[in-house]
Amino acid sequence: MTDIAFVLGTRPEIIKLAPVIRACEQHGVEYAVIHTGQHYSDNLDGVFFDQLELAEPDVNLGVGSGPHGEQTGEMLGGIERVVEDLDPDVVIVQGDTNSALAGGLAASKMDPKLAHVEAGLRSFDRSMPEETNRVIVDHIADYLFAPTEKSKWYLVREGISELRITVTGNTVVDALERNRTVARRKTTVLDDHGLTAGQYLLMTAHRQENVDDPDRFRALLDGAARAGQEHGLDVVYPIHPRARERLKEFEIDVPAPVRTIEPQDYLDFVRLLSASAAVLTDSGGVQEEACVLGVPCVTMRDNTERPETTDVGANRLSSCDSDRIRRAVTEMLNADGGWENPYGDGDAAVQILRALPVSVETEEVIR
Ligand code: UD1
Ligand code: UDP
Repeated sequence: MTDIAFVLGTRPEIIKLAPVIRACEQHGVEYAVIHTGQHYSDNLDGVFFDQLELAEPDVNLGVGSGPHGEQTGEMLGGIERVVEDLDPDVVIVQGDTNSALAGGLAASKMDPKLAHVEAGLRSFDRSMPEETNRVIVDHIADYLFAPTEKSKWYLVREGISELRITVTGNTVVDALERNRTVARRKTTVLDDHGLTAGQYLLMTAHRQENVDDPDRFRALLDGAARAGQEHGLDVVYPIHPRARERLKEFEIDVPAPVRTIEPQDYLDFVRLLSASAAVLTDSGGVQEEACVLGVPCVTMRDNTERPETTDVGANRLSSCDSDRIRRAVTEMLNADGGWENPYGDGDAAVQILRALPVSVETEEVIR
């Protein structure tokens, strides 16, 4: 019997669950990985398994892309069958994707206990599919791993018993601790793209509410371009396939000095982020990573479920308004980067394992 089954399906889940999977190996916990197949392009999927030295998933359901209901429904049936077979003690899901929702819903009606890593995040914006996903998973989970006291407080306020919640920090820090020095040593990404540390802005934008709306997408690109022009900086945009498709569909020309590049592998991305003057993003994980790495961040959204980053002064919300984006970048470039990291010491993964009803070897059993 397997102790733990991980259900994952997208780039950020692979990155943020990798430390927990590694902790299982180090502490003698049996596990299996069920990949839903939500992400399948090598540069959103396979490359992370390779680079983070994870074994191939035990099962890949190959669900692929589709409308929310269809995609989630197909995952649900597949996950249920595999969990029945594996009979784990615990199913772990992470974050707020459709894969996390499907893994959570399937497990909650079966024998295994359900654990939710990165519980208690709230944007209070129900128009985001991610908000629906995270709220539901939190309310059906048996073990909730909140990254901060604030996220725990949100959960308690919604009536979730404190006994279910452990504040662990975010596993994004565990992943950065392991990889940031390696990234600096190993990658040639700056040279490859003709970039000098501190002399460019990094940008990511892929959220449904931003890139699926042509006006918002145009405003966001325009704001990034104006910020780049104002400071004489290139804006490097590793572009998610959703956004790439929308550019084509809406016939949007990317304004200079924004330049799109392919989605980056983790080490290259961490290096690009660490060496950037500032980052403009709508990503959840990137807001956290920028905060941890001391890189000023502008979040091109109306809200954030990561208020810890704005509270410490690492992040500023600009909405998708071109002029507000430009101004927010200027303000953040002048920010004092000495804020504290609200996301813990990089031992979230071990804390998670220790709180679960599985037997954990106290000494590391493997490297
Ligand atoms: C999903 C998550 C989002 C997360 C993001 C991480 C949900 C509701 N959304 O959004 O919270 O921030 O992953 O990156 O779960 N595509 C490819 N190759 C792939 C996967 C997708 O080309 O491997 C294209 C397809 O055209 C697809 C589109 O991207 O239709 C969107 O993919 P999907 O997984 O539905 O949502 P994401 O935007 O990736
Ligand atoms: N990331 C990456 N390559 C890229 C862009 C992002 O490796 O080209 C990583 C980044 O370091 C972070 C994660 O992907 O850990 C964030 O994923 P994404 O923005 O897709 O999703 P979100 O966090 O918004 O759910």
